[in-house]
Amino acid sequence: MNQLWGGRFQKPTAVLLRKFNDSLPFDVRLADEDIRGSIAWARGLVGAGVLTSDEAQTLVDGLVQVEQEFATGSFVFAPGDEDVHTAVERRLTEIVGAVGGKLHTGRSRNDQVATDFRLWVMGAVEALREHVAHLQQALIASAEANLHTPMPGYTHLQHAQPVTWGHWVLSHFWPLTRDVARLDGARGMASELPLGSAALAGTAYPVDRRFLAQELGFARVSANSLDAVSNRDFATDFLYAATMISLHLSRLAEQLILFSSSEFGFVSLDDAYSTGSSLMPQKKNPDTLELTRGKAGRLIGNLTGLLATLKGLPSSYDKDLQEDKEPVFDAFDTLDVALPVMAGVIGTLTLRPERMAAQLEPNLLATDLADYLVKRGVPFREAHHLVGQVVRAAEARGVPLTALALTDLQAISPHFGADVLGVFDVAVSLASRNVTGGTGPEALQEQLLAAQTAVKDG
Ligand code: ARG
Repeated sequence: MNQLWGGRFQKPTAVLLRKFNDSLPFDVRLADEDIRGSIAWARGLVGAGVLTSDEAQTLVDGLVQVEQEFATGSFVFAPGDEDVHTAVERRLTEIVGAVGGKLHTGRSRNDQVATDFRLWVMGAVEALREHVAHLQQALIASAEANLHTPMPGYTHLQHAQPVTWGHWVLSHFWPLTRDVARLDGARGMASELPLGSAALAGTAYPVDRRFLAQELGFARVSANSLDAVSNRDFATDFLYAATMISLHLSRLAEQLILFSSSEFGFVSLDDAYSTGSSLMPQKKNPDTLELTRGKAGRLIGNLTGLLATLKGLPSSYDKDLQEDKEPVFDAFDTLDVALPVMAGVIGTLTLRPERMAAQLEPNLLATDLADYLVKRGVPFREAHHLVGQVVRAAEARGVPLTALALTDLQAISPHFGADVLGVFDVAVSLASRNVTGGTGPEALQEQLLAAQTAVKDG
């Protein structure tokens, strides 16, 4: 077996080391990017006077054939294929003959893999962005259908103030817009060409790196070859963006798990997105959402794992860097399913507005009662205290706030008048919160429009 770097070795690599060292099992998914990079490099070598146009054309034709073999699944791996780069070059040389040996002139797998991986991450950002947009559209559709449907709002998971379904569901929309910005940031970081850095010191051939960048769709070329072959900031940025997406999915999942419980009963998951119990016939389990929540741990692990791999590395290439790909692929693969699954969950969710309404008990309007006093000149701190006494009085009698007589209220504050009963109306409470971002009807219309625009412009 003829390894690409075998010249100075007298013994074959130990089988165990091959298993440890080879990255082909996972980096084979960089095949397309590797071939694109090699096509650009072959053209660059013409400009540098290393290859004739005919030689380059032979290489490009051969590479296109290799690409087709990968696409059709007919590519046959050889025992010596250590990683995708060696596999592609080995096959190319089989196809085109000795001229295949010229492709690697002035290039190293160090700048090659950095280039391939960056191209892959840029493509992955596109794919995730599309998934995120679909989920955002599902959230918007849910908001549109029940924009003004009242439900209890919570802080500390305790009844706080009335909000609406539209307001709640859009609260899970906006984090995704920030995720899109993070994804774009990662793509921007990735968009810097390392090719031409060679192993570490820069290629010895006068290749036009700007031409290469243009060929491959990079925005700029790297400024320092030592940095370029070891820079994986784009990968950690991508992982951070991906982890934040999974964290946001996890929070949404957690809340839907609660809302779909018998105790809340605000929503019911579609059969297509629930599972049953092998023992208890009545069960409809939110496994979909629990898995979504669970996968976030995996993504966090991928991010922290790669950060730990990178933290002790000198500049320039070290083989530790081969550990960069699996966490990134895994993060992508997880979201590649989790995002569409969540869009499916949201798109098929059944709402139970009557269950939400049943939970809209008068305590949720205690703040509005304090605001009533404020409108009658009572300082807010004092009003808060007085309403606290009202709540205590109702609790002592085991009745809702609304069951107290006007005389009971007036015993606590003379500022309570006959019109106080008007406070105990959820619609009035909602309508009073029309500040931008609030749960009032006009504010919600405005927010919905902003969300629609954000997805369109995304
Ligand atoms: N398989 C390697 C990786 O993924 C490619 C670069 C190998 N470079 C080297 N000098 N051995 O990082």
